[in-house]
Amino acid sequence: MVIPAEDGNRAPALRGEDLDAVSRETPDHRRIGSRWDAAHARRAGSQTLTRVQREVYGDDYFEDVVPNSFYHATLSDLKRVARELRTSPRHILVDLGCGSGAPAVWVIRETCARVIGVDLSGVGLEQARERARAWGVQERARVGKSDLCALGLKDASCDGAMSLDAIDVIPRAADRTAAIREAARVLKPGGRMVLATWEQDR
Ligand SMILES: C[S@@+](CC[C@H](N)C(=O)[O-])C[C@H]1O[C@@H](n2cnc3c(N)ncnc32)[C@H](O)[C@@H]1O
Repeated sequence: MVIPAEDGNRAPALRGEDLDAVSRETPDHRRIGSRWDAAHARRAGSQTLTRVQREVYGDDYFEDVVPNSFYHATLSDLKRVARELRTSPRHILVDLGCGSGAPAVWVIRETCARVIGVDLSGVGLEQARERARAWGVQERARVGKSDLCALGLKDASCDGAMSLDAIDVIPRAADRTAAIREAARVLKPGGRMVLATWEQDR
């Protein structure tokens, strides 16, 4: 789904207060964040992984976002995310565990929607900001530190939610459940969520 970015159709910029409510950082958050900081820094520097993904996915590799999603989202995956969200240009999406922001930035570029990206990795969030600037969508993208289990966003404040390979990395089952509840809480009635996850036996 590609919605043309005609002026009358353009989503307004996200305001600062849309992110005012992000939760406070605890020592636990810092521990999780720094582990993922290292992973995002390594991922950004890994030519090998980029080469492997490019070879494996062929035409389905989204070349214009290198490095792209942390694990495996392909161009068809991202098109499906955008389609299933049924988003429109004025919508506010939340990307839960946005990491370096490639999926979120791709989706808002294609749909003209706006996105709030939340993550605990300062390195990932900085990469996401940089990516949004590079793609010229920084007015429609805000990212900030927040725990998926306690988002701190207002009830029913988002039109849609996406989360690629993030909820499954939360170690405790109870916290994964809390994260899904949080997503439901911040969604407006009828809002849709697209979730990509690994099935793990824990
Ligand atoms: C595998 S990466 C996926 C990043 C992105 N969604 C993508 O597909 O490129 C998982 C992300 O989840 C974030 N994360 C893990 N636990 C979190 C938590 N409790 N709260 C917020 N983010 C968390 C990590 O910092 C990391 O950026």
